[in-house]
Amino acid sequence: MKTLVLANQKGGVGKSAVATLLAHYLAQQGRRVLAVDLDHQGNLTRPLQRSQRPVMAGVSSERLLTGAVASMPDAPFVLVPSDRSLLSLERQPTLHTPFARHLRAFLGAMAQRFDVCIVDTNPNPDIRVIAALASADFVLSPIQLNQESLEGVNGLLNHDRVGVRKIKAVLNPKLHLIGLLPTLVEATPFQRANFVQIAERFHPLLIPLAGPGKQYASIPRRSAVAEAQASGEVLWEMKKSAARDAWKDIEPAVATLAQAVGPVAAREPMEGHHVTAA
Ligand SMILES: Nc1ncnc2c1ncn2[C@@H]1O[C@H](COP(=O)(O)OP(=O)(O)OP(=O)(O)O)[C@@H](O)[C@H]1O
Ligand SMILES: [Mg+2]
Repeated sequence: MKTLVLANQKGGVGKSAVATLLAHYLAQQGRRVLAVDLDHQGNLTRPLQRSQRPVMAGVSSERLLTGAVASMPDAPFVLVPSDRSLLSLERQPTLHTPFARHLRAFLGAMAQRFDVCIVDTNPNPDIRVIAALASADFVLSPIQLNQESLEGVNGLLNHDRVGVRKIKAVLNPKLHLIGLLPTLVEATPFQRANFVQIAERFHPLLIPLAGPGKQYASIPRRSAVAEAQASGEVLWEMKKSAARDAWKDIEPAVATLAQAVGPVAAREPMEGHHVTAA
């Protein structure tokens, strides 16, 4: 199992929306997906639950840090939902190290059960984010193309507690930054200029699109995305033509991210799952 964490201390940049799209996309590819919502706001939990695609884990995600969760429902798509009790974790500093250790042990125990674990995080840089990054394989950082967010890129890498460089150096050398994913991108001259600026300054951190061309992955602002988040519908299954148009623009980025977490593996028939021809 590969674990991908969505992280950015900046709020409202599209972490949960991207996590939702990715979870559905990976599940549709036939991968066994474990979705974990570490944000008490529940913006991954709600759309996935409403979609009725994943099976609910039966425990909330705070239990993965407090320990003693050893098993998950036997289903190819499982959601560990968030709840308010996540807020109490930061207030127990003497337990932070055990919290991180429990989450790591849980993910280790799931290694053969799932192909991909998608973890959505809260914007405050607390123990939940640290614990997730300390055990992840990949981190993906959605960013918005405004000046403030561009300045925040430095914090993303170098923040004292949750900066990717810091986590890599101190807690998790295998952590790989997939990259920065510009989100809520609008076709305004201002945003275009900012995209050029970010491409110049941070191009090694942007994510080249799979396939021909030299473009970078990004997610445009489309009302259908917000509607899908609110209703729980799967974006590419929505009937409206606006949703279909939105998905046409978004799919290349989501497909590229899905590839970044590893190839779609054909599983052993012995595991009791169907192996379908690609
Ligand atoms: N590509 C998009 N187009 C239009 N609206 C979007 C898009 N992505 C996200 N949104 C909407 O923008 C708002 C913020 O997005 P989201 O909740 O994904 O951000 P976040 O980074 O997870 O926020 P937080 O830091 O609070 O967890 C939500 O209302 C969401 O539905
Ligand atoms: Mg969120």
